[in-house]
Amino acid sequence: MRTQVVIIGGGPSGLLLGQLLHKIGVEAVVLERKTRDYVLSRIRAGILETGLVDLMREAGVAERLETEGFIHDGTIISYGDLEFSIDFRKHTGRSVVVYGQTEVTRDLYEAREAAGAETIFEVDGVEIHGADSDAPYVTFEKDGNEHRIDCDFIAGCDGFHGVSRQTIPLTLRREYEKTYPFGWLGILSETPPVNDELIYAASERGFALCSMRNANLSRYYIQCALSDSPEDWTDAAFWQELKRRIPAAHAEKLVTGPSIEKSIAPLRSFVTEPMRWGRLFLCGDAAHIVPPTGAKGLNTAASDIHYLYQGLRQHYLDGSTEALDAYSDRALARVWKAERFSWWMTNLLHRFPDQSAFDLKMQKADIDFLRSNDDAQSVMAQNYVGLPY
Ligand code: APR
Ligand code: PHB
Repeated sequence: MRTQVVIIGGGPSGLLLGQLLHKIGVEAVVLERKTRDYVLSRIRAGILETGLVDLMREAGVAERLETEGFIHDGTIISYGDLEFSIDFRKHTGRSVVVYGQTEVTRDLYEAREAAGAETIFEVDGVEIHGADSDAPYVTFEKDGNEHRIDCDFIAGCDGFHGVSRQTIPLTLRREYEKTYPFGWLGILSETPPVNDELIYAASERGFALCSMRNANLSRYYIQCALSDSPEDWTDAAFWQELKRRIPAAHAEKLVTGPSIEKSIAPLRSFVTEPMRWGRLFLCGDAAHIVPPTGAKGLNTAASDIHYLYQGLRQHYLDGSTEALDAYSDRALARVWKAERFSWWMTNLLHRFPDQSAFDLKMQKADIDFLRSNDDAQSVMAQNYVGLPY
């Protein structure tokens, strides 16, 4: 079998790249380890930067997000009962769109199937060969048979636990990691959101986040110990703790209900350099991870896909490799700014076990400076809506 681009991973990164390439007549085959339903069962964040919305439009897959997505012109930051808003539109002229990542992935799968583009599900043992040669190929098992696909390029969109990053020799890879001493306990509930914009809440008891998926599906998180498991938290205990961390005025309005999903996610910052080895290009979670605080995971995957798509487009349509050769540096320049913003927001809003009384005073002063300084709010707004590609 032969194709132009093999895309390993059928998550949002791989599917978005596949759809953009299809629009310009470049053939790609997506290899996905799981089933379509399994991929769509994952609960992920749902804040779309304007750059991602523009890419979805370019891919011809933005119709549903434009009708069902919620435009948010700002967000609330709170500390105990004190709260203030960050006005994205005032500071940047832009907004973000609240639209679940699952829906982004669903729209991309439906577009891919409508286009008749090939996705091979439930593959096993994917291996990348000759990435540093001019004749790369990928082998994999499917239904007990061994397969091989020869190609021009390989896009490693297989997430943090995928095979692509591991294919780059350790002698050529530099990895940077920071883990955080807490997790996020998240629930989904079929209840109306407590507020029409997100509330990022810091408190003496720890961080909380009030988010949503639609007018009757809310997403809430509270910072929890890494030793916790979802079973340690009854719904009642979760709601009680959430109410203690958000401003009383919102807690009083909070509509609670049974959780339809409850899970704990650890927080990690991670980057691997470079994001290219020969004809293998890493995108999204395969190359970098951010703590969810700044909602940058999907949005940074999107900017990777933008840079790689531009490179592949230039190669196939103009015969130039300039943009492909610049891919890793260009992608990493934006990745590190997203890492910094996510790290900054995480440090600003969470309680750290080893914080001294002085550290707490510094954290409170940081929040107070953000509350009272227009320029500080502008900097946060520019990062939150998305830095330029
Ligand atoms: N072979 C084939 N597919 C694989 C392999 C493999 N060896 N390893 C992983 N996969 C698949 C996974 O099953 C998953 O569907 O690759 C896909 C990777 O998707 P994601 O992990 O969602 O990564 P990405 O597409 O880069 O999207 C980034 O996802 O994790 C969130 O916060 C992150 O929002 C961000 C987004
Ligand atoms: C979510 O809605 O799941 C969400 C929103 C904003 C974040 C993280 C998660 O920063």
